[in-house]
Amino acid sequence: MSKKRRIVVTSALPYANGDIHLGHLVEYIQTDFWVRFQKMRGNECLYICADDTHGTPVMIRARNEGITPEELIARSHAAHLKDFTDFEISFDNYYSTNSPENKACSERIFAAMEKSGAVTTRKSPQLYCEHCKMFLPDRFVKGACPKCGAEGQYGDSCDKCGGTYAAEELGSPVCTTCGATPVVRESEHLYFELEPFRDFLREWLPQHTTSDVSNKLLEWFNEPLRGWCISRDAPYFGFEIPGRPGKFFYVWVDAPIGYIASLANWCAARGEKLDEWWPQGGGAKADGTELYHFIGKDIIRFHCLFWPAMLHVAGIDTPDKVFVHGFLTVNGEKMSKSKGTFVNARTYLDHLPASALRYYYACKLGGTTDDMDLNLQDFVQRVNGDLVGKITNLASRGAQMLNKNLEGRLGSLDDEGRALVEFARSRADVIAQHYEARRFSQVPVEVAKIADAANEYFDRREPWKTVKAPDGAEATRTTLTAILNVFRILAIYLKPVLPVYADKAAALFGEASFEWDDAAKTVENGTIGKYEYLATRIDAKQVEAMVEKAKVKPAETGEVAHESRASKNKAKKAPDAECPAPGAECAPLKPEIKFDDFEKLDLRIGKVLTCEIVPKSAKLLKFELDCGGLGRRTIFSGIRGAYPDPAALVGKEVVFVANLAPRKMSVGVSEGMILFAGEPGKGGGVLSPTSEAGAGAQAT
Ligand code: 2FM
Ligand code: ZN
Repeated sequence: MSKKRRIVVTSALPYANGDIHLGHLVEYIQTDFWVRFQKMRGNECLYICADDTHGTPVMIRARNEGITPEELIARSHAAHLKDFTDFEISFDNYYSTNSPENKACSERIFAAMEKSGAVTTRKSPQLYCEHCKMFLPDRFVKGACPKCGAEGQYGDSCDKCGGTYAAEELGSPVCTTCGATPVVRESEHLYFELEPFRDFLREWLPQHTTSDVSNKLLEWFNEPLRGWCISRDAPYFGFEIPGRPGKFFYVWVDAPIGYIASLANWCAARGEKLDEWWPQGGGAKADGTELYHFIGKDIIRFHCLFWPAMLHVAGIDTPDKVFVHGFLTVNGEKMSKSKGTFVNARTYLDHLPASALRYYYACKLGGTTDDMDLNLQDFVQRVNGDLVGKITNLASRGAQMLNKNLEGRLGSLDDEGRALVEFARSRADVIAQHYEARRFSQVPVEVAKIADAANEYFDRREPWKTVKAPDGAEATRTTLTAILNVFRILAIYLKPVLPVYADKAAALFGEASFEWDDAAKTVENGTIGKYEYLATRIDAKQVEAMVEKAKVKPAETGEVAHESRASKNKAKKAPDAECPAPGAECAPLKPEIKFDDFEKLDLRIGKVLTCEIVPKSAKLLKFELDCGGLGRRTIFSGIRGAYPDPAALVGKEVVFVANLAPRKMSVGVSEGMILFAGEPGKGGGVLSPTSEAGAGAQAT
């Protein structure tokens, strides 16, 4: 076999501020196909990823939940990894951008950027909310589009006319956090100038991306390339910029550096040298390493302009190729929360098997930047018709018949069977080329052709009849031997797509996990194992139940905004802004009280047993507290705005006023008052002795 390749592969790092959904999975699943294929071929291939943890949205969400950003990102990390694992996506390392490796690497690359003279400082105007005490990122301000006048548009682009603009240009802007009207303020920021990299990028782009991607980006080269704002003002959850107190790296600076940091973390754990996987400059060039990024088309600007320029200036190897895919549509439309087609990974898994989606995505992924449609009806048909009906049936019928009637013992192939198996085997190179070129959709096509031939053979040989005929045992054995050999080869071809399925198939033949070259082998005269379920039909009802579960009423769709992936180049506009410092709420103070007044309060700790939304009330939550020696108490509290998911409070300890006279309310009697600092929905949270102590210990 030819020399082993050494390959590092990445998928874009998902934001810690949100759940993994079916749109994300388009990327992680196809990267996983490719990496698994490379591994099966005997190459040294690593799949490297991490959570993208920094930025304003994580900070705001953590504050709204009354936890630290570190707690939030730890929770997301575990949830993301569980989702990926349950989708059979296997990373060699899944790390975090909030890591010491990433800090060191970001500082190293930034030092090189500065040394090159490409980092400049500029003052720029940006919207500032005096109530929230923060500069407003584009997605934290709404107003009227300056181009078409449409109301309620974000600070970067208009949904109605598609126009792009700077947030300061919005008509009647409002802060989406508090509703106040922001003002324009100046702040000094660092910019990474791209113009010095014009020649480098012009040459780099066509060689490292497909022509549609590079042509799109090269359109910008007709004008001077704009600098990219790489700093954000404190408070910001991220890395402070060395020598620039109060300024932090913009999340998109340290996010791609997180690829290197995650790999460095993997290397350190195994005594490997980073330079031998991803040459970092400094003369330690290792020949023959390959590096590929899989990304969505919304983030090409970061990966194909800023990122190669950053790496180039630091002397670090740039990616060999950036593989760009399109967006996911469901039933031909944008994913929609109200229609139930914006489906989280977990919601899917609660209703359907991971392998079905992996198989369907394989059928649809052509390795281009075209959008990909998940048509739910087609999904059911392809899984049932092809994966189960055509392919898996070969194994289930063949193996069960052999086990039941013929002691599970394979025979030898006759000429016809050998020809069929040879035909299956002859497609190995073609299928391998499809995988290599990421034309995944061609794999099920090839597999189906072989399965059709095998099914035709099965039907013609009628083993269900010959098995009952007086001298039919050996003829039946010969038929089933051919069928099972073909199935075995198909399972090998499908292993990158269906790894768990393929491992069960290998076990049926008493073999270890398949390598690609195992397709060259024929299995004759041995015994097979017990047939284990490989794939079952899915029911349209399961899909309907999933969609129903995913439906979100319009009032509930609001989430803390992500840094927009699809927005225009932010470089020419105000940088994203900051959040209020804890306690920086601006609600007017109540009249002063005396110490004696305060002393009257009897504050106790209670454990939340249940916490529920009160029907027909926009604000109230109903708590059942375990108050130790005081027994149980029911308390109504108007803090629903701060806890969109009240169940998250169950098990927490809260502080409450225990000697407040019971108060009769329309929904019941409230037996105390839970202490809450801040304003529900705008920041703050319940006072909790346990979580506060934990938070303090973990804060950086
Ligand atoms: O768009 C996103 O979801 C980003 N979190 C991707 C970051 S990819 C890389 F640069 F880290
Ligand atoms: Zn505000």
